[in-house]
Amino acid sequence: MDDNDDYGMGGLMDEPEDYYPPTPPPTMQTYTMRSGKPVKLHLVGASPTEAHVLWNGAKVISDYFEADPSRVEGKTVLELGAASGLPSLVAAILGAAKVVVTDYPDPELVSNMQKNIDECDETVEPRGRIAGVVDAMGFVWGRDAEPLLARLHPNEANNNNGGSSSSSSSSNGSCPARFDVLILADLLFRHKEHPDLIKTIRETLAVSRTSVAYVFFTSYRPWKRDLDMGFFDVAREAGFEVEQVEERRLDKPLFENDPGDLDVQKTVKGFEVRWPASAC
Ligand SMILES: C[S@@+](CC[C@H](N)C(=O)[O-])C[C@H]1O[C@@H](n2cnc3c(N)ncnc32)[C@H](O)[C@@H]1O
Repeated sequence: MDDNDDYGMGGLMDEPEDYYPPTPPPTMQTYTMRSGKPVKLHLVGASPTEAHVLWNGAKVISDYFEADPSRVEGKTVLELGAASGLPSLVAAILGAAKVVVTDYPDPELVSNMQKNIDECDETVEPRGRIAGVVDAMGFVWGRDAEPLLARLHPNEANNNNGGSSSSSSSSNGSCPARFDVLILADLLFRHKEHPDLIKTIRETLAVSRTSVAYVFFTSYRPWKRDLDMGFFDVAREAGFEVEQVEERRLDKPLFENDPGDLDVQKTVKGFEVRWPASAC
């Protein structure tokens, strides 16, 4: 068959040039830390998984770290569903020992996170520290966590021993090291995926009273607030302790003119999820 055959339709079936809306181009944003340091962030132009926006959860969790850098300083950090990876970069700037920043394994998303790491590295002395500390990789919530844990001991032929520079994620010789800090910024809107997020927390968070998953989010669809909050029921059912540590009312919502209660849309809530003492 001839590729150019138009079946006698005289081009009637050809798509007009503007049939598909053009893909929006990538964008850039600058987040300014309390210290005054700007952090430049690339964002993909479009994303079916909502990675094309710098969400308020990422900004507020980054500020929460800067308010008390000991939350991340010297720690091993894993971010899920990171998009731009802002909190991961801020954690690295504040002195995290190792950071693994992840998003859905779409090559464009992973290379975008890597671009943000590389450009941040150029702005922080000594050069090479941020790039050495932060790894970008694809990861789907709930999948095998071993490739994430392997980043904590990259030089070992098998992953049976610890090796993290952090105390709380050292291993007992039979379990791979785990992360001291997990970051979940604005990830609760996919309610069916709550069990997968909890599974990943179970498999990656160091079993210690000092390790913590920071879960910050806004109910951008206020009428689904209860469903968003259902994440913490799943966490408690899995045996975790949950404590609210932040509630910040921003000047304006992320999306102007969205429907629903404006105060809810402007509010970022922050929770800590920890292993119970009985597990440690
Ligand atoms: C609302 S955005 C939040 C992005 C970022 N944390 C922030 O606060 O700016 C949700 C993110 O989760 C990622 N994501 C959605 N479903 C996922 C899944 N099943 N596994 C991994 N990442 C996922 C998306 O690609 C997107 O980056």
